[in-house]
Amino acid sequence: MTFLNKSSMSESEEQENELSRIGVSLPSHLLESFDEILHSRGYSSRSEGIRDAIRSYIRYHKWMSDLSGQRQGVITIVYDHHQRGLMSAITEIQHEHLDIIQASLHSHVTHNRCVEVLLLRGDAIKIKRVSEHLMAQKGVESVKLTTIPLED
Ligand code: NI
Repeated sequence: MTFLNKSSMSESEEQENELSRIGVSLPSHLLESFDEILHSRGYSSRSEGIRDAIRSYIRYHKWMSDLSGQRQGVITIVYDHHQRGLMSAITEIQHEHLDIIQASLHSHVTHNRCVEVLLLRGDAIKIKRVSEHLMAQKGVESVKLTTIPLED
């Protein structure tokens, strides 16, 4: 725990400097990949990299929260083919949202990984919900959402 002289700092600086410590368990391959990125980008510490990663996660969430109106969307999912029950969970999610999912495309990337691309059209809130639902599944490596407004 670090105590700082608050009188000389602005509110945002103060928030930045009030540090909390957390312990996280990660699969070792995930940490290795993360460390490689930190190394190639010249980060001075792992903590700084984790702070940046969390900031960008929050930014992405905020960006998603700001989406509204009728949109055309594309969701790209990369996932672990061997994760038990995941393939059927992903299919189930798509069936639950068949009113906005127009098409899906699957490719077996490697022995272990699949990529699935979904084409969606409809309310941004619904599109976001599909994307968040997919992201929350265990074994999903990444979910990327891109959208285009339907009105010019
Ligand atoms: Ni596959």
